[in-house]
Amino acid sequence: MKAIIWTNYGSPDVLQQQEIAKPIPKENELLIKTHAATAFAGDCELRRLDLPLILRIPLRLYAGMIKPKRIQILGQELSGVVEAVGAKVTKFKVGDAVFASAGLNFGAYAEYSCLSESAVIAHKPANLSFAEAAAIPTGGSEALHYLRAGKIQTGETILVNGAGGSIGTFVVQLAKHFGAIVTAVDHTDKQELLHSIGADKVIDYIREDFADSDQKYDLVFDSVGKNSFSRCVHVLKPNGRYLLASPNPRTRIQGRRISRSSNRKVIIETVEPTIEDLVYLADLVDKGTIKVVIDKRFPLEQTAEAHRYVETGKKKGHVIVQVTHPDSH
Ligand SMILES: NC(=O)c1ccc[n+]([C@@H]2O[C@H](COP(=O)([O-])OP(=O)(O)OC[C@H]3O[C@@H](n4cnc5c(N)ncnc54)[C@H](OP(=O)(O)O)[C@@H]3O)[C@@H](O)[C@H]2O)c1
Repeated sequence: MKAIIWTNYGSPDVLQQQEIAKPIPKENELLIKTHAATAFAGDCELRRLDLPLILRIPLRLYAGMIKPKRIQILGQELSGVVEAVGAKVTKFKVGDAVFASAGLNFGAYAEYSCLSESAVIAHKPANLSFAEAAAIPTGGSEALHYLRAGKIQTGETILVNGAGGSIGTFVVQLAKHFGAIVTAVDHTDKQELLHSIGADKVIDYIREDFADSDQKYDLVFDSVGKNSFSRCVHVLKPNGRYLLASPNPRTRIQGRRISRSSNRKVIIETVEPTIEDLVYLADLVDKGTIKVVIDKRFPLEQTAEAHRYVETGKKKGHVIVQVTHPDSH
């Protein structure tokens, strides 16, 4: 089968197509013929090991000290069709259309992958394309988890920083679904998109710093982490919650201090997608309540190009690695 092998830590050039043996499912595994996978900021950070020291060392221990060895194929989200099942699999059968978070097993950038039946896999609703389904697990779960952790309420105001990205596009729409009033912040090029997915107000960060305004919010969701921490906390109302999806060691410490010493709360979570969340999110997409924003699609052999495009920062929503024909539903 064709697979994109992670040959080293570094630039997108380290992702190289090779022909390798098709995997054989163990008795508790499904063999999935992959239709679509994704490329997002987190994949690129992993590929080049551009992570805080505290994560870089464990990742090298896990994937390979000098170069990736144990993990050879990247790609964390996928959708496809079950092609074979192990003898002990009961929840899925051959022919089922599914989508999944492969998580730290990775392996989505290949024509086939094997996942345990107990992995985060759900049936794909028929109305969703494979591309839409593949783009749900990570960004969708991250958005949903943070909004729940922030206990978002109908009528509350939320500012979403980095609103046009993989997580942000879900946060904007889910926050609207939960009845909040949404201010979305992102680049000039993404303003039209943000209006189209329901943002009540849009701020272009190139022209305006939201923290300069007197406007205060019940919640701030931040997937960017580039603004000054204290200025983000400053725009919170009393009892406001700062949902920080891109923390660093410094903001983690500052966050704990603010949560302890003020009536504002800084929420930093490690999010693991769950089957229940995948089903919940896919159902909202199926009903048309939210949509999956898809920018460009790259064929499997151009996965390195997909990563390069993600790294330009120009992407809107999600970038798809299309493993089979885009029209396959
Ligand atoms: N995707 C996930 O599920 C996930 C999960 C856990 C953690 N994370 C982490 O969360 C971060 C964001 O992830 P993502 O996938 O949503 O990234 P993304 O798709 O690249 O989205 C980030 C968005 O922020 C915008 N942006 C950049 N600088 C900004 C600024 N100063 N003010 C406001 N907006 C700005 C970017 O637009 P421009 O570049 O055009 O300015 C882009 O639209 C990454 O560090 C990632 O590792 C992601």
